[in-house]
Amino acid sequence: MLLGNNERRMLRAMLTDPPRKWTLEDLLAETGWTDQVHVAGAGKALQERELVDVEESRSRLVSLGAEGAKAADEGLLESRLWKWISDQDDSERSMKTLLAAGFERSETGPGIGLLKGLGVSFEAGSFVVEDDGTVMQAIDKRSRFIQSLAVGAKESSSLDDALVEHFASRVGLIEFDDTVSRNWSLTEGGASIDDSELDDVDMIGELTPEILQTEAWKGADFKPFDVNAPSPTPIGGRTHPMQALITRIRSVFLEMGFSEIEGDFVQSAGWNMDALYIPQSHPARTMQDTFYLSQPERIEVEDEYLGLWAKVHEHGHDTGSRGWGGAFDKEEAQRALLRTHTTVNTIRYIAENPHVPSRVFGIGRVFRQETIDRTHMPEFHQIEGIIHEPEASLPMLISTLKTFYAKMGYPDVRVRPAYFPYTEPSAEVDILWREEWMELGGSGIFRPEVTEPLGTEWPVCAWGMGLERLAMLILDLDDIRQLYQPDLERLRRMPIL
Ligand code: PHE
Repeated sequence: MLLGNNERRMLRAMLTDPPRKWTLEDLLAETGWTDQVHVAGAGKALQERELVDVEESRSRLVSLGAEGAKAADEGLLESRLWKWISDQDDSERSMKTLLAAGFERSETGPGIGLLKGLGVSFEAGSFVVEDDGTVMQAIDKRSRFIQSLAVGAKESSSLDDALVEHFASRVGLIEFDDTVSRNWSLTEGGASIDDSELDDVDMIGELTPEILQTEAWKGADFKPFDVNAPSPTPIGGRTHPMQALITRIRSVFLEMGFSEIEGDFVQSAGWNMDALYIPQSHPARTMQDTFYLSQPERIEVEDEYLGLWAKVHEHGHDTGSRGWGGAFDKEEAQRALLRTHTTVNTIRYIAENPHVPSRVFGIGRVFRQETIDRTHMPEFHQIEGIIHEPEASLPMLISTLKTFYAKMGYPDVRVRPAYFPYTEPSAEVDILWREEWMELGGSGIFRPEVTEPLGTEWPVCAWGMGLERLAMLILDLDDIRQLYQPDLERLRRMPIL
């Protein structure tokens, strides 16, 4: 019987106490190994030879999630609502007073749902309670469950199944951690092996050119090779998933015959907005939404364009439009800002190449004053593109976007009518993801108010899509911040694109 040295070492260790059931820690201590992979690997080989039995036990630890920890501190939503209801007179139990009492709007919907499940109904604008006792009991049970986990994680078999199931269906309250632990013990065959047969042997584990050059390999023992044996995962460098996604998008557009363009982060309001016929009074232009700069504070824009935009904005010039009216402020158009969309790149490209048919795309960073949360960041990326040629049309736009997303792995694309100040018609683009329509961006045909000052008479198909949204779908993330946190463990586990 040809056993490898690891198997011999593990058997020697186990034969020091043949009837014993060994845990991983015991075996590591007795063999002197530091990596559990050796125990797993040798254990598996010995199991296959029926010298060792391996027993697996699975356990599931339940702990509080972020919402659960909050509930442990502040009380469960149903418990806070119930307290409020109990404190009110009948006539005061209405939605209006509820909001006034400091409950968030986002809490009232789910809160009412929870209470309903407990037998509290909401009729004609106020709460009706059938049986105080059962409601209180149920809430109390739930609260005690959460409190018990606040002390520390618990084995799920020690918890009430119904409550575990209930909280598992609510977002963020509890989390599960599944682990498998193993025990190794000698079989009869294993226990009857004689220790003295288990000395380490000289075996060739790797055939090197040096060994092959001599005759040494001829009489040698070879280490059996098992491609299914557990082994440590080598950790090498890899491209950041976001960068890998950008590379893939780039190659899809290049494959479709588009050329790539770039532009600066710092732009004038004129090119970022006025050129796009966004009215100077538009809410998105305020400091709350746009990062204006103090250095430089101003970026000069060619008089020719300022003059044309002024005419178009004030009365439509000769575009057939009536314009927005009012007086166009040329100083406002020269305020410096961080670009709020990459549409500024495609617009400038048309202005520089008004008579050249073109299909160009760009993938770039944009900036908006967003509060950071699960789906928003003040810096994100857009995938922008245009088709600028005499025959450009809406069907061409739609089929281009469909082709793009199909190549990215999302064959179901839907467009819905939308509004942007710079396109007519305008369309919102959704893709089907796990049976749900997800909005990924905007598109349309640039209005004459946009294209004529740039010096072209051809229609332009244009689109701007969110990159992070797409990344979240492809990488299966529920929080956009996960893309940018330097959590190497998590990044390593993300799929290779
Ligand atoms: N710029 C728009 C946005 O940032 C997207 C868009 C681009 C819409 C081009 C229409 C045409 O959401």
